[in-house]
Amino acid sequence: MEEPKSIRHGDTVLSILVGDITTLDVDAIVNAANSSLLGGGGVDGAIHRRAGPELVAECRTLNGCKAGEAKITRGYRLPARHVIHTVGPVWRGGEHGEDALLADCYRNSLELAGEFGLASIAFPAISTGRYRFPQDRAAQIAVTAACEAATGSSLQKILFCCFDQMAAAAYQVAFARLQSTSRTGDEF
Ligand code: APR
Repeated sequence: MEEPKSIRHGDTVLSILVGDITTLDVDAIVNAANSSLLGGGGVDGAIHRRAGPELVAECRTLNGCKAGEAKITRGYRLPARHVIHTVGPVWRGGEHGEDALLADCYRNSLELAGEFGLASIAFPAISTGRYRFPQDRAAQIAVTAACEAATGSSLQKILFCCFDQMAAAAYQVAFARLQSTSRTGDEF
């Protein structure tokens, strides 16, 4: 069976795609930032490069961000209207609260999106690059937290934007697991 690419959870459609998150025309893309919010490498670097210098100028007014928390800015030269910056946990073996902090990143980003009445949001695979969080474990946490946080929110579309097929496969497994455990996870 072809693994699901999109599933419905309540009024929200969750989808997996492979691509560059900076190209997505959505209400918000989520940045896997560091606590300074002043840019970095990976997806953080790509977002700042594409958004232009006004992004870091606004980030300077935010006074940083703690791991697990989320802050919102405009998207400037990005197609996305907003950037929601969140700081994922650095993987230290799994016994230092990493799972809970990663779930907080998704939950707080979606809560912020709801406060701004956003309808569509795209996430990268937070913490699975430089922060070395295991991909399969991170995808399971992301899908579970997103479903919980999306319930009853304004969000119609949650995209998991993977940079490669390996990452996408981890989300497909998480989607299949969600479907097998829930009535509303209708594949289509
Ligand atoms: N679009 C979508 N996903 C991307 C892109 C992109 N343009 N660029 C990288 N990625 C993916 C990576 O392949 C990885 O799966 O984003 C995921 C997160 O990787 P990182 O960007 O390294 O982020 P993270 O592991 O959370 O580490 C954050 O790295 O860049 C610095 O400033 C950042 O210090 C912070 C740390």
